[in-house]
Amino acid sequence: MSGTVIDTQEVKQLLTRVAGLNQAGGDERLKRIVHRVATDLCRTIEDFDVSPTEFWTAVSYVTRLGQANEVGLLVPGLGVETFLDLLMDEKERRAGLEGGTPRTIEGPLYVAGAPLSKGKARLDQDPEQGEVLFVDGQVRDTEGKPVPGAIVDVWHANTKGGYSFFDPSQSAYNLRRRIETDAEGHYRFRSILPSGYGCPPNGMTQQLLTALGRHGNRPAHIHFFVEAPGYRKLTTQINISDDPYLHDDFAFATREGLIPDLVRHTDPDEIKARGLNEPFATIRFDFELNREAAALPEAVVMRDHAKAA
Ligand code: BEZ
Ligand code: FE
Repeated sequence: MSGTVIDTQEVKQLLTRVAGLNQAGGDERLKRIVHRVATDLCRTIEDFDVSPTEFWTAVSYVTRLGQANEVGLLVPGLGVETFLDLLMDEKERRAGLEGGTPRTIEGPLYVAGAPLSKGKARLDQDPEQGEVLFVDGQVRDTEGKPVPGAIVDVWHANTKGGYSFFDPSQSAYNLRRRIETDAEGHYRFRSILPSGYGCPPNGMTQQLLTALGRHGNRPAHIHFFVEAPGYRKLTTQINISDDPYLHDDFAFATREGLIPDLVRHTDPDEIKARGLNEPFATIRFDFELNREAAALPEAVVMRDHAKAA
């Protein structure tokens, strides 16, 4: 066969009709995007000589990925969620925005509507044999001014790497809270040290990762949304610094500036002063929010979220 099929007039006309480009009506931008995606797919099939059997295997994979509710899991695993972050970083830089706590991916495991409290919270409502963790910090603007009344929405996994709501063995909103910063912009919470998340070993995401020679593990981490009127919403995570997967996250979320020191406390007087009888850990992490401005790209990402009953 000389020449490519994708570049023939017949296929060009086919793809034009597929995207509705040959007729009025519909959304012009969507038409152009669908045209690009359909063209790139067909070109990939031809370039890699994908057989019909291989193609229908892929269709079956995507169908089962959706049925298993794992699309939101594969997307970060393919680096696309991180790519969206890098694009947003670049758009902000071009608009002249500098500083602020780095953003990183939200991931698919947020649940809206966690209990709200002022200044402090305790996250571990389900009893669990874990290392006690105290986290505290201040929300400030980029000039160092405290931000009182900011909402720090925090969520993390338990000692088995499972998230409440998605893991039915945990109670609703276990390890999920919203904390309003006090008059000096401070927040603090008590919890337990999380373990890293791992993709379901027999799931569809892990199936593809295995075929790529990759693991599906994340380092232990704690998620945050930080919001305050007049400021850009921050979506980020901090890592537990001694995790073996710290720089080998299957979801590519580890970033410079998001790895605070994890301090372990073994002094009996300190342990007693905290009302505990075992060593504990602390993390200090301050957030720096950027002011909102008209010229900046939208920072609030609209995305479907679960809500516990
Ligand atoms: C997580 O935040 O734990 C997560 C992020 C991306 C994919 C899977 C899990
Ligand atoms: Fe997570």
